Amino acid sequence: MTFLEKNFPIESPDTVLLLEELSLWSSYFGKMLLEQVPLRKGVSLLDVGCGPGFPLFELANRLDASSQVTGIDPWAAAVERANWKKDHHQLLPSIEIVLGDAAKMPFADQVFDLVTCNLGINNFDEPAQVVQECRRVLKQNGRLCLTTNIEGHFMEFYTVFESTLRELGLEDCLPKLKTHVQHRGTDESIRDLLEEARFSIVKMVRDKFHMRFVSGSAFLNHFLIVIGFLPSWRSLVPPEEEVRVFAYLEKKLNEQADWDGELKMTVPMLYVEAIK
Ligand SMILES: C[S@@+](CC[C@H](N)C(=O)[O-])C[C@H]1O[C@@H](n2cnc3c(N)ncnc32)[C@H](O)[C@@H]1O
Repeated sequence: MTFLEKNFPIESPDTVLLLEELSLWSSYFGKMLLEQVPLRKGVSLLDVGCGPGFPLFELANRLDASSQVTGIDPWAAAVERANWKKDHHQLLPSIEIVLGDAAKMPFADQVFDLVTCNLGINNFDEPAQVVQECRRVLKQNGRLCLTTNIEGHFMEFYTVFESTLRELGLEDCLPKLKTHVQHRGTDESIRDLLEEARFSIVKMVRDKFHMRFVSGSAFLNHFLIVIGFLPSWRSLVPPEEEVRVFAYLEKKLNEQADWDGELKMTVPMLYVEAIK
C-alpha cells in the first residue's frame, strides 16, 4: 500500500485509538531509544517486551517495505492490542506479534539484525536468560539496543520510605527495601549483564527526567504509580502493617511537598547499545 492509498479517517474511533497509543512514561525512554537506535534498510528487527506495541509500531513506521518487525511479550491483553494495531496501522514492513517469554524465544538462531527493548530489563524474571536469548537470535554483528531506568529511580520516594520503616520500628523490612531498590541496576551491573552474555558495549547514554506532583497523595494515587509500582512496594511490608505504613508514608510525603512546594521524583535513564 502506498501513502496515497492509506486512509485514516479523522472521525474514525480507530484513528483516535492509533493516535493515543503511547504511555507518557514509556515515551521518555522510547524517545531516548529512537534518537540512538541505528536504522537502515532491509532490517529484521525484534522488539522484546513490546507490550501493546511501543516502540515496535513507531520503529515500523520509520522503516520501509524492505524490513520485517517482530514483537514478543507474554502479556496476552497487550499482545491482543498490538495485533489490533498491526491490522490498523497500514504499515510498509511486515509485522508479527508473538505471545511468549523472551527467556525462551520461539525463533531460530541468528535471524535478527537488531533487537530493541524499551523498559524491559527491570521487568523480566530472568534478565540474564533473556539477554542470552537475544544473543542467540541475533545475527553476527547484530545489535541489542535497550533502555531502562537505573538505580536512583524515585530516590526521593525511597528515602522517605526508608525513614518511614525506621520510625515505625519496622527495621526488619529494610533488607527487602534495599534489594528492591538495587534490582534496578546501575551502569556497571547492566554492562556486566550484557558482557556476561558476550556482547560488546558500543554505546551508553545517560539522561534523566523529573516527575512533579502537587502532594504525596497525588503521587500515590497516580495511575502509573498504582499499576506500575505500588504492588511491589506493598510486597515489602507485612500485610498487617500495610495501612499503617502507607498512611505514615503519605503523611511524610505530603509534609515534604508542603515544605518544598512540590514533590519531585527523579528518574535516571540509560540507553545501552551492544554488538554480538
Ligand atoms: C514496562 S513494560 C514496557 C512495555 C513497552 N516496551 C513500552 O515501552 O511501553 C515491560 C514489558 O515487559 C514485558 N515482559 C515481562 N516479562 C517478559 C518476558 N519474560 N518476556 C518478554 N516480555 C516480558 C511485560 O509484559 C511488559 O509488556
